[in-house]
Amino acid sequence: MSEANKERTIAPHQKQEDKKLAELLRPQRLGDFTGQEKLKTNLSILIEAAKARHEPLDHILFHGPPGLGKTTLAHIVANEMSVNVRITAGPAIERAGDLAAILTNLRAGDILFIDEVHRLGRAVEEILYPAMEDFVLDIVVGKGPGAKNVRLKLPRFTVIGATTRLALITAPLRARFGAQYRMDFYEIEAVASIVTRGARVLQVPIDEDGAMEIARRARGTPRVALRLLRRVRDYAQVRAEGHITQTIAQEALNLLEIDLLGLDDLDRRVLASIVEKFSGGPVGLETIAASISEEADTIMDVVEPYLLQLGFLERTARGRVATIHAYKHLNFTPPGQNNGEIPPQPRLL
Ligand SMILES: Nc1ncnc2c1ncn2[C@@H]1O[C@H](COP(=O)(O)OP(=O)(O)OP(=O)(O)O)[C@@H](O)[C@H]1O
Ligand SMILES: [Mg+2]
Repeated sequence: MSEANKERTIAPHQKQEDKKLAELLRPQRLGDFTGQEKLKTNLSILIEAAKARHEPLDHILFHGPPGLGKTTLAHIVANEMSVNVRITAGPAIERAGDLAAILTNLRAGDILFIDEVHRLGRAVEEILYPAMEDFVLDIVVGKGPGAKNVRLKLPRFTVIGATTRLALITAPLRARFGAQYRMDFYEIEAVASIVTRGARVLQVPIDEDGAMEIARRARGTPRVALRLLRRVRDYAQVRAEGHITQTIAQEALNLLEIDLLGLDDLDRRVLASIVEKFSGGPVGLETIAASISEEADTIMDVVEPYLLQLGFLERTARGRVATIHAYKHLNFTPPGQNNGEIPPQPRLL
């Protein structure tokens, strides 16, 4: 997903400052990484075993909704292994030659982090298969009838891939990741402790209830939680001498139109479109996107996973359907409950 989509609710002048803060707030060690307990245990076993054998790590794939910590974990793994990490992204590697150049510059044990790994081109992927499996690079030298296939040996390295779209990863690529971890939305308590830690780094005084209030409305996502914390901090600074209490957090978040479950304007527009324009569904994603002038990708990556998790939305073979819970939350009259009025009858011919 584009940076613009990730930070879509932030005014441009705040972006630079927010980026710097994001760096400060990023945990560096597995021990500082809150939540995702099962994943952390598995990852620490993987790391410890590889270290004990003095071997590079197996290739790792992190998948799950945006903002849950995939990039952060890739850096943590590099720190824990004390190796260098080379960062790139699927769309940035345009030609097979670009990848060949990256691979030949790696040193033994290095980590190659490929963000948005589902967006690698086909020709690039084909270079990656033997590189990941056998640590070799197959290249063609020369042109025409004199062209020769040459096989170069690569140092043993580790690919860490990250994706929000597991389904778009081709089967052969997926098969080459020996360790695959799904990231889930965080528990509210874990988000609250991420908020508290963030507030400490930002040196903002915050009550426990204030942190919980932000956490409840952060859709189980650390990136959202930290963003809301920064906005609540602004509000507290202007309206309340900087101290974040539960009341201050509530006021600030209400003003930002983030509701009690963390739904924002875009979530509500998606649901309202399904309910009002398409009678609750089923309706295709592209049709919803067009009806509210948003990108289908943004809806699929940012909006849907959380609405599915809340049980507000269902995916069916024929399209998306708004559930009764969504109707209730948004105060729409659920289908078949016309407030006691007699529903309009089809006219008999
Ligand atoms: N467990 C955590 N503890 C503390 N902070 C976290 C945690 N996970 C993520 N963060 C913070 O949340 C923000 C988003 O994390 P990150 O960039 O790693 O997410 P991501 O999964 O890579 O997102 P995307 O899919 O959009 O690339 C970062 O600022 C990071 O510091
Ligand atoms: Mg990332």
